[in-house]
Amino acid sequence: AAAVRINPSILAADFVRMADELARIAAADFVHVDVMDNHFVPNLTFGPQMVERIQDTSPVPLDVHLMIDDPERWAPGYAEIGAASVTFHLEAAREPVSLARRLRAVGARAGVAVKPATPVESLFDVLDEFDQILVMTVEPGFGGQSFMPDTMPKLRALAAEARRRGSEVWLQVDGGIGESTIAQAAEAGADTFVAGSAVFGAAHPEQAIVALRDRAHR
Ligand code: DX5
Ligand code: ZN
Repeated sequence: AAAVRINPSILAADFVRMADELARIAAADFVHVDVMDNHFVPNLTFGPQMVERIQDTSPVPLDVHLMIDDPERWAPGYAEIGAASVTFHLEAAREPVSLARRLRAVGARAGVAVKPATPVESLFDVLDEFDQILVMTVEPGFGGQSFMPDTMPKLRALAAEARRRGSEVWLQVDGGIGESTIAQAAEAGADTFVAGSAVFGAAHPEQAIVALRDRAHR
């Protein structure tokens, strides 16, 4: 089976016990770090100073998801901190391809994310400018929402296009991913799975990661 990545979202972690929470997910592939600015989404989390401390502390590489306006101003700074991947939103970027190139130039994987209602056709011709494409499976802003199955046709279209072009781009899903939904996203073509409440809400996060990985492979 192809590689599958499980990226727990620390949005569902206890923020004042962050070092302990990070230690609980050492079996993960990346830690997903949700940056929100209360403009692009109606919620606020943390910024570069906190992410730098997470980078210093985390046993696994960082997968930063920027739900912010003006990513041109902020995204390269997260790459400079050492985040393994930095994903900005297509809806917020003025020139997505040139921003992706700037992120790669700093050594990060470049990601672009789309909200549930945003079409993905404009990405087809530039797939290889990105290392990952994040198809949001909820409206961004909050953890614990229900997976939206009507986002799956977009994922299928991206997967078909990536196959057709022989692209190595990773296809990520985020929102409502758990043991009962991960298989349908995998079947539609996702290979990289963000899970917040399904991991940090579990009694044993390490076991939850193993269970998710197992279901994504079926
Ligand atoms: C939502 C965030 C997600 C969130 C997922 O806007 O981008 O990463 O943490 O949380 P769950 O897995 O609980 O839906
Ligand atoms: Zn996210």
